[in-house]
Amino acid sequence: MVRTGSSGPTLIGMRIVLGVTGSIAAYKAVSLLRTLLREGAVVQVVMTPGATKFVAPLTFEVLSGHPVSTGVFEAHQEMKHLSLPEQADAIVIAPATANCLAKSALGLGDDLLSTMLLTSQCPVIIAPAMDGGMWMHPTVTEHVRTLRARGAIVVDPDEGLLASGKVGQGRLADEGTILAALQSALVPERDWHGHRVLISAGPTQEPIDPIRFISNRSSGKMGYALAEAAQARGAQVVLVSGPTALPVPQGIEIVSVATAEDMTKAMSLRLAWSTVVIMAAAVADFRPIQVASRKIKKQDQTDQTLALERTTDILAALSAQRTTQLLVGFAAETHDLIVHAKDKLIAKGLDLIVANDVTTAGAGFGSDQNAATLIDRQGTLTELPLMSKRAMAEAVLNKAQALLGVTASGQTSKPVAESVSTHRTAS
Ligand code: PMT
Repeated sequence: MVRTGSSGPTLIGMRIVLGVTGSIAAYKAVSLLRTLLREGAVVQVVMTPGATKFVAPLTFEVLSGHPVSTGVFEAHQEMKHLSLPEQADAIVIAPATANCLAKSALGLGDDLLSTMLLTSQCPVIIAPAMDGGMWMHPTVTEHVRTLRARGAIVVDPDEGLLASGKVGQGRLADEGTILAALQSALVPERDWHGHRVLISAGPTQEPIDPIRFISNRSSGKMGYALAEAAQARGAQVVLVSGPTALPVPQGIEIVSVATAEDMTKAMSLRLAWSTVVIMAAAVADFRPIQVASRKIKKQDQTDQTLALERTTDILAALSAQRTTQLLVGFAAETHDLIVHAKDKLIAKGLDLIVANDVTTAGAGFGSDQNAATLIDRQGTLTELPLMSKRAMAEAVLNKAQALLGVTASGQTSKPVAESVSTHRTAS
């Protein structure tokens, strides 16, 4: 029924109800429908009356090959509010308005979609889209919390330009993210079961004095997405994180660090435990030689020169110490991407490098999306166009999994493979 493709398991034969509510983002549900169909799902679309003001039901009808249900009363004779969720493997609501979130959280049923949610037993994936101010409103936050506590998977909206012309968080999450959420809800493929994955994320901060430091723009999103994806696929994950504003992912052990030195220690200490190491962190290459114990006052001198020294190259150090671990690095580049990334792959003795062109619009530091080229130790290139960081995390894990066996250290990773196959048999 389920096979693993390049970006995750497919949905062949899965019955999905796609709920569309009255948001300007309703048109994006058309593309989502096509993607679900392409992945092999059988899709039944349910629209709220508001959604039909934005996109005609006929569009969904023609594409899905099934009549679109809209009102609870017209569908009443067939008891669709009972039969649709009963037959569905999952319900995906995209876009979901603030009104839809509120009704679902409170258990109100005044249209087919909201009534269906009261009878459904299957996984529910909700992808909200609304104005940024609405998304941040405490009422909406409360409803989202209620829905999550009840087991619904709420896919946070993306940041960006909104219909109002303002910039904020409220754009419907990109398709890759919604699809990944659906796939992991439906197909809890635990193909990383038995692996112990050590991941670094975020920036480091190298102190100058008690209140100043050298750092960079890493938000940690890429590393956290990797940690969440590996955990969802059954791995035990330890995330060594520089300072970020991200919430602690559930079920993942976090080791918080600040400096490159802290990160070096935290990673080295756990190397022997791990089967796979992924360095997504943006580690400072230099740190001040002297850290002032008191705030450096501007009147002390007119000009200041900061003397810097190299930090430890963590990946190179891990590479020198490793036995059977698979080592994955990132390369954040602004030019000559492939040349520089290949140099790093070789110099640091890696099995795989994620060559990250951080000049691509909407990708790299801080954004919700990324674009990269995977380069493995044989020099094979795999292009990953602009996609959500979660979708990229899945692709990196897929590639890393294919490389498990013999690592770039020349040592066989047979004990790892054996432990994996033991667990696979058991699960
Ligand atoms: O955190 P986000 O906002 O989501 O952004 C994601 C990202 C852009 C930070 C991420 O995708 C990324 O590219 N991470 C690597 C950033 C980086 O430091 O690249 P680099 O080319 O300078 O380093 C190459 C590799 O060596 C990296 O795996 C890095 O973790 C590692 N390194 C670097 C310096 C050092 N002292 N020790 C290291 O191990």
